[in-house]
Amino acid sequence: MKILMVCLGNICRSPLAEGIMKSKVPENFLVDSAGTISMHEGEHPDKRAVKTASGHGIDISRQRSRPITKADFENFDKIYCMDIDVYEEVVSQAKNEAERRKVSLFLEPAGDYKNAEVPDPYWGDMKDFEEVFQLLDKGCDAIRKQILQSS
Ligand code: 4NP
Repeated sequence: MKILMVCLGNICRSPLAEGIMKSKVPENFLVDSAGTISMHEGEHPDKRAVKTASGHGIDISRQRSRPITKADFENFDKIYCMDIDVYEEVVSQAKNEAERRKVSLFLEPAGDYKNAEVPDPYWGDMKDFEEVFQLLDKGCDAIRKQILQSS
């Protein structure tokens, strides 16, 4: 199973989601993340995201930001988007229905959060990063359950 987490900059939400998901799935799963913009390409995650993850025993410090590519739609089985703007941008890049079907909102499997978005903590403080971590942790649990049930 190959899972791609996507947000805007690939320095806050999706790197955290990648790190959390990796800590929950077997080693034969591939988990990666990307952004819809290339503004932060090559950068490590935001220091506040690194610190928040580290507080939960997860190391995301070596990740590097990259924009989503055409090849991602072929290579990954599931593409999870952190908010509706990201979802719409990613869906618009899919070249056919099979690719579009791989794309969904990250919080959808978590049920309670149907149609909800993972808020962008970039302009916030450490408390916002911690709240986002908790939301991502719940979302990753729900995704894990859904994938393991269907496989
Ligand atoms: P992310 O957060 O999408 O969770 O990585 C952001 C990172 C950078 C910017 C916006 C959101 N930015 O405008 O540079």
